[in-house]
Amino acid sequence: MELFDVYPINNIEIVKASGSSVWDENNIQYLDMYGGHAVISIGHTHPHYVKRITDQLNKVGFYSNSVKIPLQVELAEKLGKVSGKEDYQLFLCNSGAEANENALKLASFYNNRKKIIAFSGAFHGRTSLAVAATDNPKIVAPANETDNVTFLPHNDEAALEQAFADYGNEISSVIIEGIQGVGGIRLASDSFLQKIRSLCDEYNAVYIADSVQSGYGRSGKFYSHDYAGVNADIYTMAKGMGNGFPIGGVAIAPKFKPWHGMLGTTFGGNHLACAAALAVLEVIEQGNLMENAAAVGGYLMSELEKFEQVKEVRGMGLMIGIELPEDLSHVKKDLLFKHHIFTGEAKPNIIRLLPALNLSKADADLFLEAFGKVLKAEAESLKQKA
Ligand SMILES: Cc1ncc(COP(=O)(O)O)c(C=O)c1O
Repeated sequence: MELFDVYPINNIEIVKASGSSVWDENNIQYLDMYGGHAVISIGHTHPHYVKRITDQLNKVGFYSNSVKIPLQVELAEKLGKVSGKEDYQLFLCNSGAEANENALKLASFYNNRKKIIAFSGAFHGRTSLAVAATDNPKIVAPANETDNVTFLPHNDEAALEQAFADYGNEISSVIIEGIQGVGGIRLASDSFLQKIRSLCDEYNAVYIADSVQSGYGRSGKFYSHDYAGVNADIYTMAKGMGNGFPIGGVAIAPKFKPWHGMLGTTFGGNHLACAAALAVLEVIEQGNLMENAAAVGGYLMSELEKFEQVKEVRGMGLMIGIELPEDLSHVKKDLLFKHHIFTGEAKPNIIRLLPALNLSKADADLFLEAFGKVLKAEAESLKQKA
């Protein structure tokens, strides 16, 4: 059997990883400014993480949700505390798309309505409703298409007000990323999130904060939506939650009342996933990683703004987008193959930085130095071509 070829891959095999470094099969060391797509939150193979998962595996790796799993309770308590949402309830699942799927479903159960508001540039996952609420027709299969999702312009308060005025009593939920990731690191404005909150209150619609990429401390606050100073009804999370162990979660406000069978999953909340997620929260808390993300991220952003060729730097904490002119679309590849630094991209000319939350200032400086060299070389080669 062959692999189903859906990923454009780099010809690199990673065989070892530690902190913000990974090594390939030739023992070449790379700086990981990408975190395997915002997944590595506490650094690769963190000793506490490895120990907690290993210890758990030696006791029990999996049993289904038909028995008591005290680790789930421990995780819910810890997550409530670290995120500052202690009165919320936790539903555990396995991925970001699944978390959003469950959130949209829960909202619809809650107010018995069908319509969903999403925004231009949004990415919420690749399954059923999550992909229908994703602004990329290319990945929406005919069977996913639905009239229940309406896309409005991002950060456009007037358009949102108009939609609620026109059919507010039919709107089940509004789903929004605090910082759009795939969409190119675009922040939802505080006043836009506040407007969503007040309109949802007025019309009994549900405000869903997709924190799959921007959450879990990456922005410097636990949920990037929290910068707006209002609570969402539901927060979805995944990526950084397990530092690579697949786990997703839905934090649900107290007003939602569960009933048996309302949501469910085979693997969600299994023993190993809970051990991984607990280890992550323990390291985030003990190492003050949210503060580190804010400090090192702020430093990176202010240094990046100094480069002449950089058109714009966007982001919060360690979720950073660097927009370059379109003719500088080779920078990401040069960083990887000439300087051994992994970064992400939203478009070839928009580089995304999504490193571990404990990235050191020294590693940030390493990146800045290499980035400067690449920009200089690109500028020189463009000059020669001209
Ligand atoms: C904001 C956001 N929501 C949802 C998802 C989907 O998560 P997953 O790939 O774990 O299904 C992603 C993935 O990139 C994302 O960035």
